[in-house]
Order: sequence, then structure tokens, then C-alpha cells
Amino acid sequence: MALYKEKFYLFANWKMYLDFVESNILANALANEAAKFPANVKLAVFPSALSFYPVSQVLRDAGISVGPQNFFHIDKGGYTGEMSARMYKALGADYALAGHSERRHIFHETNEEARQKVAAAASVGLTPVVCVGETLDEKKKNHTLDVVKSQLYSALDGLEWPEGKELVVAYEPVWAIGTGEACDPEAAEETHKAIAGWAGDVLPKAELVLLYGGSVKGANISEFLKKPHINGCLVGGASAKLESWMEIVNAAADLA
Ligand code: PGA
Repeated sequence: MALYKEKFYLFANWKMYLDFVESNILANALANEAAKFPANVKLAVFPSALSFYPVSQVLRDAGISVGPQNFFHIDKGGYTGEMSARMYKALGADYALAGHSERRHIFHETNEEARQKVAAAASVGLTPVVCVGETLDEKKKNHTLDVVKSQLYSALDGLEWPEGKELVVAYEPVWAIGTGEACDPEAAEETHKAIAGWAGDVLPKAELVLLYGGSVKGANISEFLKKPHINGCLVGGASAKLESWMEIVNAAADLA
């Protein structure tokens, strides 16, 4: 198990913040900035399903990876309203979010569904971004590590992982997402360290990439990126505007 540190991973989850036109405007603006992006920063964007195709074309040409925010774990069939990992792969996806807390808590996705998505993504060659994190109530009860451990073990259960293949895990405390109240970087580091140990036990051959997520912005990202077990960040709100996203990219570049 290796933990990459040559690069900072900055992943942008646009959630449902941008409509089709806004998504395309931001994608083109990012592509225009791409020449200035430092070589030590690896960028990926998770646009809405609706804007995925044109955004992926623009961003991939600019060297920025893309992935779906959500998908169904079966490849094809009578599943009204769903889209599969294979369909996203065909449109140029590299990564796929799985188990995001908004899916778990708003749409009642279970650990088992997160596991099915991780397996489906991996089976078509997408790198899953496995999202884990405790609620405020669980944090108050001191259950953070137990919750994260069980989400992680469940998500990775039964997976086969080839030597050297990248696996991304995002630790995102639910109480820190979209609240403006980020986790204390030292506490995040402790949890990431534990995740590195558990993921190493389950998938010892994986190249593990660990992201922190939850109210990341230009003013606080450096404190996370300086931690030994944090390779990058998964950013929601601050990724959906060019100015705040560039503050994040520039803060990471300054650490090079
Ligand atoms: P936030 O969201 O940056 O808006 O807190 C992070 C996430 O949900 O991935």
C-alpha cells in the first residue's frame, strides 16, 4: 500500500449547484485557466448528469478528469431514470463518487448500495471515490472511528484490487459538509491515518489516495494538505465558482 504525496488531488463536486448553461460556462472558464494549473495538482470535476457530456469533453481536453456524482450499479436494463457506470465510462469518466453523505442521508442509500456502486465502478474501469463520514450525533458520542471503519469495510467488501491501482477514499464528516465548519485538520489527520490502516488491511495492493471533504476553501485547504495522510480535498460549494475554486488551486500550488 502506497500513499501518494507527489500530487495534491483537488476534486470538485458541483452537486446540484449549476444548471446546464452555468456548468458549461464554468467548464470553459476552467479550461481557459488550465495552462496555469501547476503540475503537482491533479484535478477532477463531478458535474451534474445533465451537463456531463459537454463538460467532460471540454475538461478532458484541458487535462482535467471527470466523474459522475451518482449512478446505478447495474450496467443496462429496465431501470427508469437511472444511468450506469458503464455509460459514464463511455463518455470519458475516470472517477465516480460512491457513498456520498448526501446520497446516504437525503436519499437513504445504505452501506450495501455504496458497496454495489464501488464494485460497479471498479468493474468498468472507473476509480471509485469512496465517501465515508460520521454525523454530528455520532461524533458527539465518540463513534467517529467506528462509523468510518464500518462504512469503509462494507464499501470495500469482496473487492479485488490489482497491484498499483488507485483507490480514492474521501473522509467527509457529515456535520462539516456545507456548514462552513470544517473539521479540525489534526482530527481529520487522525481519522485519515486510521483509514489508511484499514484500507491497507483490506486492499494491500491499492495505491491509496485519501481526501478530506467538508467546508474546504482557499483559506483552510493548506492546513489539510500539509497533513501526512491527506492527499487532497473533495470540495463542494467552493468548487462551483471560478474564483473560490482558483483560490483553492492556488493555495495547493503554493505548497509545492
Ligand atoms: P462542501 O461539500 O465543500 O460544500 O462542504 C463537500 C462535499 O460534499 O463533498
